[in-house]
Amino acid sequence: MPNMKNKKEIINRQILREIIATFKWNYQYTKRYSGRIVLCLLLGLIATGLSLVSSVAFKFVIDSVVGKNLSGVRTAFAATILLSLCNIPINSLSSRISLRVNIRITNSMIADAFQAILNTRWEDISVYQTGDLLNRLHSDVRTVSGIVVSTLNSVLLSSAMMFGAFAVIVYYDPTFAFLSLLSAPFLGIIYKLMMKRIHAFSMETKKIDSELMSFNAESLKNIQILKAFAIEPFRVYNLRRVQSRYEKVNMDFNKISLIVSAFMGVLGMFTNYACYAWGIYRLWTGGITFGTMTLFLQLSSIFRSSFSSITGIVPGLVSASTSTSRIMEVMRLNRDEQPDVESSRKTTENCLRYGAEIAFENVEVKYKNSDAIVENVHMLFDRNDTVALIGSSGSGKTTIFRALLGLIRPSGGKICVRIKADGSREIPVSEHTRSLFAYVPQGNTVFSGTIADNLRTVKPDASDPEIVDALKAACAYDFVAEMENGINTYVGENGIGISEGQAQRIAIARAIICGKPIILFDEATSSLDIETERNILQNVKNTKGNRICIFSTHRFGVLEICDKVYHVADHSIRPLTLAEARKICTETQNRPGED
Ligand SMILES: Nc1ncnc2c1ncn2[C@@H]1O[C@H](COP(=O)(O)OP(=O)(O)OP(=O)(O)O)[C@@H](O)[C@H]1O
Ligand SMILES: [Mg+2]
Repeated sequence: MPNMKNKKEIINRQILREIIATFKWNYQYTKRYSGRIVLCLLLGLIATGLSLVSSVAFKFVIDSVVGKNLSGVRTAFAATILLSLCNIPINSLSSRISLRVNIRITNSMIADAFQAILNTRWEDISVYQTGDLLNRLHSDVRTVSGIVVSTLNSVLLSSAMMFGAFAVIVYYDPTFAFLSLLSAPFLGIIYKLMMKRIHAFSMETKKIDSELMSFNAESLKNIQILKAFAIEPFRVYNLRRVQSRYEKVNMDFNKISLIVSAFMGVLGMFTNYACYAWGIYRLWTGGITFGTMTLFLQLSSIFRSSFSSITGIVPGLVSASTSTSRIMEVMRLNRDEQPDVESSRKTTENCLRYGAEIAFENVEVKYKNSDAIVENVHMLFDRNDTVALIGSSGSGKTTIFRALLGLIRPSGGKICVRIKADGSREIPVSEHTRSLFAYVPQGNTVFSGTIADNLRTVKPDASDPEIVDALKAACAYDFVAEMENGINTYVGENGIGISEGQAQRIAIARAIICGKPIILFDEATSSLDIETERNILQNVKNTKGNRICIFSTHRFGVLEICDKVYHVADHSIRPLTLAEARKICTETQNRPGED
């Protein structure tokens, strides 16, 4: 039993910590709009005051009518209507201001979280599913954003309304006021008891939500596969299974909520009847007028609804706190350091002008929770070298590219770039050296937009002739020129509308146009014929400036134009002679005639 109590205490403390974190995080954004937020609160307070005064004015209207004393009735009635009318523009203005503040806070939070995700180290972020990240980025941020403003608003305005209504009731009849308070302590106790369940429910629904989003995103991305294997019905069936879990969690929580609200409803009903009975008794004994009775009924309902809207922020706060912890989890991951743009530009310039070499010294590379993919690696790529990495599938070629790009860090040894100027300055590869590389990854990596847009993603100021030159070097211009809109032809998501080989050539042109001193081709020419592959590599070699070109391939035909060939196998990398490379390619590739 004491253990259970301890556990509960720990969870409650954790929820409290998350709520405090939510407030702190929100505060960074809300403080920029503190003027407007205060203005909204003031407008809300004015509206609250006006509606209380309007209720009292209406009491005078009723008393005047019942007492047949019509002298002040017109003024009181006019005041009631006027005060209610005044509230309309005040509420509209306040809702407009708060909408703008809310949108701005949400946008800033989403943009910051998006930037944080993009700046997170690749190794850390790549374990998250896209759908999960999207859900955290949009749904969770929206739950959190503005929670402080809305909580403040709710607490302040409802408290003002509650205390105002209570004060007026106390003024006319303290017993009635006391009776209105009857259900209040129960609500507080119930929420304290419910905190843990609300937290668990909130966590579970957000988790399933993320699962649904990931499932849908993945299905839509692979719609071609689903159709080809005719497995759409299974996919829909699986979706329904996740949905039914979502339904069950919600229905279970709803059962508890219903029991609690039924209990509160009964309690509220008794409170109401106790208030009515007391009011009727006072009216019967002549202690109060009809007008006061109407005022009581109006105010006690305002009082109770204000009280429940204050306590009603609890589930919202708990849900926001779970969202905050989900966003913080991603935002606390290790970030890439931001390289200095000017010094990166200079290093790139020096590399191109004087040349650079890349050295692998006793390097070991592994992923988190994996054994070494490659170890004891020694390689040296000199300026203007064209280097080929060959090796069977899963041997570690892409892993080497990732290590070169600083996406994963060597777990042993060092990989560094030595710039020939400055007395051979040595820079260990990391995010700081990424600007030296152009990369053509495996698979289709064309963005939606025009062909020119795709090239301008890496060089925004590229002119049309520059784009045409890059496309020519990538042997892509022949098919682009034949298209109706040339370089302005629209390509869909993942290169829909063009062939795999065409998409590869656009990706190659994109790597060429950014003019980097080191170009990595990861099976970037696998969909092309050997002649085109050879031409592209020759074109890249011929471009001005010192360039190292590293590519992975399975075909011997292109190895002839390489300066160095390395074999990635059995967790190690060793240099090959052309004869050895030919043997391996023939053995592994099984495509007669290619070499
Ligand atoms: N993100 C990752 N986390 C853990 N292990 C990984 C990860 N990516 C790849 N691996 C493992 O690393 C090994 C090398 O993978 P890599 O992608 O480098 O092979 P590859 O030589 O490029 O293969 P392919 O020719 O099929 O592209 C494989 O055993 C793979 O399972
Ligand atoms: Mg690979």
